Amino acid sequence: MTIRNYQPTDEQSWLRCRVLGFLDTAYFDDVATRKPPPDLELVAASDGQIVGLLDASLNGPEATIETIVVHPDHRRRGIARALLHEACTRLADRGALYVDAWTRDDEGTLT
Ligand SMILES: CC(C)(COP(=O)(O)OP(=O)(O)OC[C@H]1O[C@@H](n2cnc3c(N)ncnc32)[C@H](O)[C@@H]1OP(=O)(O)O)[C@@H](O)C(=O)NCCC(=O)NCCS
Repeated sequence: MTIRNYQPTDEQSWLRCRVLGFLDTAYFDDVATRKPPPDLELVAASDGQIVGLLDASLNGPEATIETIVVHPDHRRRGIARALLHEACTRLADRGALYVDAWTRDDEGTLT
């Protein structure tokens, strides 16, 4: 599994991962059919598939995790932890002092 920058050719696999990752959560109705363009776009790729993704925006010292999703077949393997670690490192390098994130009420996102 590799953490890397999103590339335009990832879009279909990225959208599939986002839909499947949200399907069993309180975000089931938050469906995107085009990828939004945030300031930081990371993906976790495995065997040519996007298995996790993290989008973040940056506004001066404040950063926001806009989306973090791991494909249901690849959860509890540390992918979200690896994405968050890489994102925090890169956001700090770009001047972020705070990182916030919004969740609904799924247990895994609140832990
Ligand atoms: C939340 C989510 C991103 C976690 O991804 P993941 O790759 O499975 O997480 P990790 O394997 O890195 O887990 C890191 C730690 O988070 C906690 N955690 C993760 N999923 C959990 C769950 N379902 N229940 C309880 N704790 C959980 C654990 O402490 C875990 O460490 P451990 O496995 O050593 O116990 C994933 O479940 C997901 O995609 N959820 C749906 C999307 C979503 O709601 N995103 C948030 C809003 S944008």
